[in-house]
Order: sequence, then structure tokens, then C-alpha cells
Amino acid sequence: MGVKEIKLEDLDTDKFIREKVEEISSTVGEGLAINALSGGVDSSVVTILGYKALGNRLKTYFVNNGLMREGEPEAIVSVFNDMGINVELVDAQETFFNALKDKIDPEEKREAITNAFYNDIFGCLVRETGAKYLLQGTNYTDIEETVAGIKRQHNILEQIGINPEEMYGYKIIEPLIQLRKDSIRKVGKVLGLPEAIYKRPPFPGPALAARVIGDVTQERVNTVRNATKIVEEELSESEAFQYLAILHEDKVVGVREGKRAYGLQIEVRCWESKDAKIGSPTRLAYDVLERLADRITSEVPGVVSVTYNITKKPPSTIEAV
Ligand code: XMP
Repeated sequence: MGVKEIKLEDLDTDKFIREKVEEISSTVGEGLAINALSGGVDSSVVTILGYKALGNRLKTYFVNNGLMREGEPEAIVSVFNDMGINVELVDAQETFFNALKDKIDPEEKREAITNAFYNDIFGCLVRETGAKYLLQGTNYTDIEETVAGIKRQHNILEQIGINPEEMYGYKIIEPLIQLRKDSIRKVGKVLGLPEAIYKRPPFPGPALAARVIGDVTQERVNTVRNATKIVEEELSESEAFQYLAILHEDKVVGVREGKRAYGLQIEVRCWESKDAKIGSPTRLAYDVLERLADRITSEVPGVVSVTYNITKKPPSTIEAV
């Protein structure tokens, strides 16, 4: 696929960091670059590499697409501000919900998110700042999944025939493209990121939209956000690779206070994996599963059914969309 993987056992972190900082610095020259920080390990590592290379000539933005978890935009901005890196919060909620309106097909949703991100939001920021480069944390697995036709990852452009410069008016620098998640965590640790960041479970670029089957409305995103909060609270000690909640499109008949309640279904997934390429469901204790079901049905309005996914990847994938 034209990119050579650097495996964890072959990674010399100090050398990698030195080379990437030099590369970013010589590519951008005297100009400006921008980057989007989501607070995931990939974009956090890229932010630090970019900051080391460019200092204040790197403009870092947190794009609040309305699809993030509870309190996430403010929390991440504050972690980076504490490290002396200025991050600007961009309110793009309307842009993303408009782009997702009436989109049901998973790949159409992903395409709409990609366009909203690169065209509407970053196209605009590039014009405002005069930056010529966007730095982003694309990793080896992202490319592999897109090239294999499994999912169009939100950050893949050139591999699917999009020339970012022609299409959006700026070039893209991808310092992590040869690494998988385990290696990126190692680089993050050496770069001095807080443990809570470099050990953070992955979260997809399309954010909670990757976990809403069917219409992605504010209300449905709120439902999955509330369920996600409970799943994360209950499973954060599990040491699993990733855990998440999915809102299904179909409703099912339930019963509340002796009356029929035609309600929502949440699916919980919890994954054991090294690099997201393959995975298997964590064998969670039954009392943990029961607590999840009790909490989600009592704390998330409208939910009457909670299921646990017991399928491996493949044939499942980690997210639902
Ligand atoms: P799937 O669902 O394809 O996910 O098994 C594999 C890993 O990638 C994450 N994921 C994404 N990450 N952009 C990303 O940066 C995306 O579009 C995207 N889609 C899925 C997912 O959370 C899992 O860790």
C-alpha cells in the first residue's frame, strides 16, 4: 500500500521523534500549520510533535462537532493548556448535524463527516490563518482498513484518490502513518503526555456518529452519549482495549410500570485487541453486565433493552457504522 509499517519491536522512539520533528519543521518552513486535536492518543501525539517542530506557528483546534462525549471538548482543551499548548475550541455542531441530516447509510455518513471536516471547517480555518499544511494523526491501521474497503476512515484522502491540495486547498502531513496504536502510545509516553491521554482507549474520528445506527439527530446522539458515559464509568477498570455503547435503529416492546413501553435498544461492546485489526469480546463478569443493563435502562431515557455483543472482529467491526 505504499507505506512501510514500523512495528513496535523495531521502533526507536527517540530517533522517531527526532526525525518527525525535523520532517515537520523542514516541510512547513517558515509558514504556519494547523491541526485538529480530538484528545485521542493519535491527535495528541501529533499536536506535541507539531508543537516541538513549530512552536506557536502550529495552530491547534478542537473541533466541537456535537458528536463528542460529555464534557470532552472542555476537558481536552484544559489538559493541553496545562501543558502550555494553546488550543482553540471551534463550535461546529450545526455544520456536522446539517451534513448528517437524513443520512442512514454508514459510508454516506462517513463521507459527510469527512467533507464537513476538511471542506467546511478546515477549508475555512486555512483561509483565515493562511496556513498551507494540516497535520493529522492518520495511522497504519486507518489506511489498511480503508484500502481493504472495510470502512472509509474519516482521515483517509490520498489512498482513495482525493488530492487534498486540489480538493481543499492545503497539504496534509501525517507523521504517524507508519505506526499502529501500540507504538503511538509508546511515542506519547516518551513525549511526556499524561498517562490518561497516552493510555486512552481509541475513539473514532466520526465520534458518536459511528455509534448511532440510523438517523444521527441531536436527540439520538444524546441517548448514545448518556449510555457511553455509563459504559465508560463501569468498564474503565476492565483494562479492555475499547468499550462502547451503540444505539440501534429498531425499537422493541418493553414494559414500564405495568404498561407497554415501545423503546430503544442499546448494544454494549467491550473489546480485547492489540491494534484494532482483530478483536474479541471481553469475557465480562455477569454482574458487570447486569449492572450495565440496570443503569442504562434506568438512567437513559427511553431505553428498554441492553444487549452485549459476543462477536469477534472479524466478522464484526469495533464500531457499528
Ligand atoms: P473498526 O470499527 O473499523 O474500528 O473495527 C477500528 C478502530 O478504528 C477506530 N475507528 C476510527 N478511527 N477514524 C479514526 O480515526 C475513523 O473514521 C474510525 N472509524 C473507526 C475504532 O474506534 C477502532 O478503534
